[in-house]
Amino acid sequence: MMENKDNVAGRLEWLRGEIRRHDRLYYVEAKPEISDFEYDGLYRELRELEKAHPELVTEDSPTQRVAGEPLDAFKTVQHSIPMMSLDNTYDADDLRRFHDYVVKGLAGKKPLYVIEPKIDGVSISLRYENGVLVQALTRGNGKQGDDVTANIRTIPSVPLRLFVDSPPEVFEARGEVFMSKSGFLKLNGLRIARGEDEFANARNATAGSLKQLDPRQVAERPLDILFYAQGDVSGIDLKSQLDLLDLFDSYGLKRQAWYRTAETYDELLAAIQDLNTVRNSFPYDTDGAVIKVNDFAQREQLGMTAHAPSWAKAYKYAPEQAETILKTITIQVGRTGVLTPVAELEPVALAGSTIARATLHNEDEIRRKDIRIGDTVVIEKAGEVIPAVVSVVMSKRPADSVEFDFVSHIDNKCPSCGGKIERDSQFVAWRCMNIQCPAQVVRRLEYFAARNALDLESLGGVVAESLVERGLVAEPLDVFELRQDQLAVLNLGTDESPRMFGAKNAAKLLAAIERARTKPLASWLQALGIPDVGAATAYHIGRVHKNIREVATSGVLRGLLAASGNPVPEVQAVKDKPVEDKPKPKEQKGQVLFDFFLEEQPKPTATKELPTPEMTTPTKLVELGLLKRRNDGEYVTTSIGPKTATSVLDFFASQIGQDILRRMEALGIDPQGGEDNATEAEGTTGNSLAGKTFVLTGTLASMDRDTASAKIRALGGNVASSVSRNTTFLVAGANTGAKKTERAAELGVQVIDEEAFLAMLGN
Ligand code: IVH
Repeated sequence: MMENKDNVAGRLEWLRGEIRRHDRLYYVEAKPEISDFEYDGLYRELRELEKAHPELVTEDSPTQRVAGEPLDAFKTVQHSIPMMSLDNTYDADDLRRFHDYVVKGLAGKKPLYVIEPKIDGVSISLRYENGVLVQALTRGNGKQGDDVTANIRTIPSVPLRLFVDSPPEVFEARGEVFMSKSGFLKLNGLRIARGEDEFANARNATAGSLKQLDPRQVAERPLDILFYAQGDVSGIDLKSQLDLLDLFDSYGLKRQAWYRTAETYDELLAAIQDLNTVRNSFPYDTDGAVIKVNDFAQREQLGMTAHAPSWAKAYKYAPEQAETILKTITIQVGRTGVLTPVAELEPVALAGSTIARATLHNEDEIRRKDIRIGDTVVIEKAGEVIPAVVSVVMSKRPADSVEFDFVSHIDNKCPSCGGKIERDSQFVAWRCMNIQCPAQVVRRLEYFAARNALDLESLGGVVAESLVERGLVAEPLDVFELRQDQLAVLNLGTDESPRMFGAKNAAKLLAAIERARTKPLASWLQALGIPDVGAATAYHIGRVHKNIREVATSGVLRGLLAASGNPVPEVQAVKDKPVEDKPKPKEQKGQVLFDFFLEEQPKPTATKELPTPEMTTPTKLVELGLLKRRNDGEYVTTSIGPKTATSVLDFFASQIGQDILRRMEALGIDPQGGEDNATEAEGTTGNSLAGKTFVLTGTLASMDRDTASAKIRALGGNVASSVSRNTTFLVAGANTGAKKTERAAELGVQVIDEEAFLAMLGN
């Protein structure tokens, strides 16, 4: 065949048509007709032909899904018709009221409802003009959204051109972008393998992917799309939701397979219950049912409120619960000695995973719920909140159930070290008072080695436990004296079935330890676990000090306290006591480092020879951004509060603080601060949380709220105190009150648990 232009154009058109058809069969209908090999052949031919005839390349050619360079930013574009959200409900009575309202509003005409699964993804609006995809917008604030066209084009199930011979002038298809459960797991697996942060859930992964400015990266994310609504439409007459679903089919736009219709309230309820029994088997996450009046004319009649149509409702499923038997209660010892009771359960399936443990928070909580060993308990996973024991099924209580008494359960001593325990009323908790308690040492070591501290990868969990158990580490700084030969033969298993750490891992860990020596001051301040010092405060303290000795007697911190009208503690320059004075014997190690957590610390007497640096002046502190002058002329602290400042000064004036300083010096460790080191010190900073607003509620086990807030901000996110429409995530810790979660549910704000939150932080 002669290669003339017409022939080429014809062949190109044929190839594109074929590839589009096969894309549709494969990605939309899941009914492929040809092998991957045959498909690849078609695709390659198209690509080569286009390469030879670049003037014949069209925007909607299948080769043009990923085109162009990364964007600088997304354009904000007005929606032709606002993207409304839906009113949420959790209960049948509310649904009844909705139905009554509809019936009344239609004055005699009977409604027909369409019930669809509520997809847990990110809503999107795709504009097709004359059948060609021209624009994709996110929901944004409903009135205007981000133009993410380049990203959406990379989704293989999105047709770049509608399958219709005479397309309507304008057709806006609205739906949800999501990641399938399996696609999400694969993506996370890949990210772990590459040492990247995991996504907390499929929805976050989807939202994060759409925010990427480089479409080539988006193309690698397993995104998919399902359509369920229309926006601006001209050139066709659409009468109902059922019409629309048919139209989607004919256009090659993917829609959900599952839907039901209902005429009465009972049918409505039955459909919703039906959906709840099957939705876990869907390949994607759903969190409710959307009920819509089918007829568009009736929708007009019913109208809308300021932010939601009155003809539709989202019914959200209550958090899943399961019943199981509480076999026993174990006690976990935390870094500062706090004892947390944990329910050990008969394993039970709940929301797609097997649950064998749930937190019991504290003694009071157990008493309040009257939870006893042997009880049948109801556990719950609300959204992604860590499973918690909600209540006891009293009718199933065995006759021999025993009331749980925290203290006698652990024989009035720490379950880890057998040491003395005391009740800490401030934390509604019992606390192990033995600073050398192996469990505490392990937790402190893990904290020391954490990514946002000294980043000693692999020095967590089992390795930390073995090091402490085998007596190689009694306090975190001991890691700097570990040797290759000790580490290589470190037994991570048991005496019966040993499992060695190995030479390679040992070398890797030693390299990480070596790197830790020069980690910035802020990382070190964080690693030391000084009370009230979290990631953000460590960052700011690190930023304004040259080195750790300067922090110990800080003129800045004292200046801050003085200027803000707080008492200034006495400081203590490190006494150049010979290092040999340090208690050397193994048995005594560990004692020194963290006695600080105990209440009464004898303060060493001040050294006369060493002068205390001058307090920094308020003017200078304002310049440093650490102090603000209020209208009334008073100075107030900003990023480093008086509590933190006092705590830091006290820490370094205490015996432990002094010992740490001396030991670090002996080890030749001199972490550097200052602005230059500050950026690096942020470590896990970035903009991964940019544009997200968090609200924190309840108690987090791993950090206090200030630290959590600081971490969020360090990653570009915002923190708010109350849940609103602008909230992206409600982080629910333990003992979360109902108010915030209810408000979150009302507004459709996602509730995440601590684990998910930590995952977002990259821990
Ligand atoms: S219909 C006027 N159908 O839920 C609103 N929405 O809270 C038309 N969603 O923003 C929306 N699955 O992102 C509709 N089958 C479905 C849906 C669905 C998920 C989302 C959508 C919307 C939110 C409403």
